[in-house]
Amino acid sequence: MTIQWFPGHMAKARREVTEQLKLVDVVFELVDARIPYSSRNPMIDEVIKDKPRVVLLNKMDMADLNKTRQWMHYFEDKGFYPVLIDSKNGKNLSQVTKAAEIVTKEKFDRMRAKGLRPRAIRAMIVGIPNVGKSTLINRLAKKTIAKTGNMPGVTKKQQWIKVGTSLELLDTPGILWPKFEDQFVGKKLSLTGAIKDSIVHLDEVAIYGIEFLQQHDLQTLNKHYNIKVEAGTPYVEVFDAIGKSRGMKLRGNEIDYESVVELIIRDIRNEKIGKYTFDSLDLLEDKDEE
Ligand code: G4P
Repeated sequence: MTIQWFPGHMAKARREVTEQLKLVDVVFELVDARIPYSSRNPMIDEVIKDKPRVVLLNKMDMADLNKTRQWMHYFEDKGFYPVLIDSKNGKNLSQVTKAAEIVTKEKFDRMRAKGLRPRAIRAMIVGIPNVGKSTLINRLAKKTIAKTGNMPGVTKKQQWIKVGTSLELLDTPGILWPKFEDQFVGKKLSLTGAIKDSIVHLDEVAIYGIEFLQQHDLQTLNKHYNIKVEAGTPYVEVFDAIGKSRGMKLRGNEIDYESVVELIIRDIRNEKIGKYTFDSLDLLEDKDEE
């Protein structure tokens, strides 16, 4: 399900997360490892402030591992504790509890020094829609937790889920909005399946995807579609080549571009061509300078 975000929704979502934050010792900020920049809420730092934070790069099974390592360093440099996970298959989840223990150690040491009774670390998950929040909660809970409408404001009574002996997790994640105002971000969110097809121009998403592959993995692109294009071949010619190779034609032998566009997007989203990370750190250096 994808939300159409309006200013009212955004304000309400922010208020709700701010309220939930008061209950917890640590925040798990969940992002998609394929787009560690584009899948972050634009106001996340303002919302979370200095609450201890663990950044969970989810869907590691679908991302480019070399680039993922660079992103891990990026988050480390920012002072957040990054952990790479695959919630769908339950990979690396023991690291989540460990990370929570590390980032809250100071607070709990202080509590102990004051003679306070030891208690479990309280945590909540925050992220934009579709990054895998419910999947992760279910994995950590080891059971299926009813999903709230993927809509800020649709609340249910919150409960704590025990994760082992040292952690308690709020069963309702904080849902914040994506950076939809940036056109490149929008294309990447679409390519990874985070936003609905009806709110983007699919042909532009496919063009972005094809140009990305021409630049980053030309050989695999050619092999996958059984075509022969160069890095600089205009996208229309690449679409033509794919259409011909896959027999996607309309009456009169014209290429069926709509089908070609859908095929490209589906293949990239479902990892049929390869594992890719679409956000690069260079992009961020430009942004940080702005
Ligand atoms: P949300 O609560 O943040 O909105 O996300 P949700 O858990 O609903 O997950 C969105 C989609 O991402 C789901 O796929 C889910 O299976 C998938 N997903 C979550 N974590 C991972 C992961 O680590 N790796 C992979 N490969 N996929 C992950 P879906 O197609 O919407 O549903 P389904 O195919 O699982 O039924």
